[in-house]
Amino acid sequence: MRRKVIAGNWKMNKTPTETKLFVEELKAVSQNKNGCDIVICVPFVDIACAVEGTKGTNIKVGAQNVHFAPSGAYTGEISAQMLLDCGVEYVVIGHSERRQYFGETDETVNARVKAALEAGLKVILCIGELEKEREQGITAEILGKQTKIDLLGVTAEQMKNVIIAYEPVWAIGTGKTATTAQADEACGLVRGVISSLYGKETAENTIIQYGGSMNAKNASELLACVNVDGGLIGGASLKAPDFGVIINAAQ
Ligand code: 13P
Repeated sequence: MRRKVIAGNWKMNKTPTETKLFVEELKAVSQNKNGCDIVICVPFVDIACAVEGTKGTNIKVGAQNVHFAPSGAYTGEISAQMLLDCGVEYVVIGHSERRQYFGETDETVNARVKAALEAGLKVILCIGELEKEREQGITAEILGKQTKIDLLGVTAEQMKNVIIAYEPVWAIGTGKTATTAQADEACGLVRGVISSLYGKETAENTIIQYGGSMNAKNASELLACVNVDGGLIGGASLKAPDFGVIINAAQ
């Protein structure tokens, strides 16, 4: 039985002051919710406030990127060890916005995934097809290619610390949510790829989230899909009451 993981990806939103207020609100709505894991993936500058504010609660803190080198001349970058030392448990890697705007490739995503896992972070690996690729009928090929390259060199043991977020790029921030059938099918496809790489047991134990315009209204039907083990939520994770409704839907 896979546990559902509800993760908020704040993207470039909220100051440390806003983070403090948000965490207090979220604590109130997430109390006694033990049926799922709750993560907030915040901007680097908000990590300290988020870690401090969530101490002793069931809310975990994640970052939104990590560099693949342990240290060195990489101006503006942050290492896995730096994140761990700040109390971070999770890190989002390979988000489509990083691939689209910051030149992230499957090769750099793979390097980041390996560095994060080797350091002891839990990884939320984002994959997903473009609208054009879905129209061209190559969704399965794209998801297969991304999954295989992004996880190159990752062991079955390390897969226990990998969550995959299936985020169709056309559904991110567009209000155009995948149908339950599309979400379930794509997450199932990814599970099939994991099975071919690591075997059935690892595939059955891997948490695969859906992300892309998930909100308080559509969360329960998406989370009810057999292959959808949680959500990676952007816009709707910025309001504690909405995020709370999604957490409830995952219980
Ligand atoms: P939205 O929920 O705003 O569509 O964003 C999804 C996302 O990109 C989460 O990583």
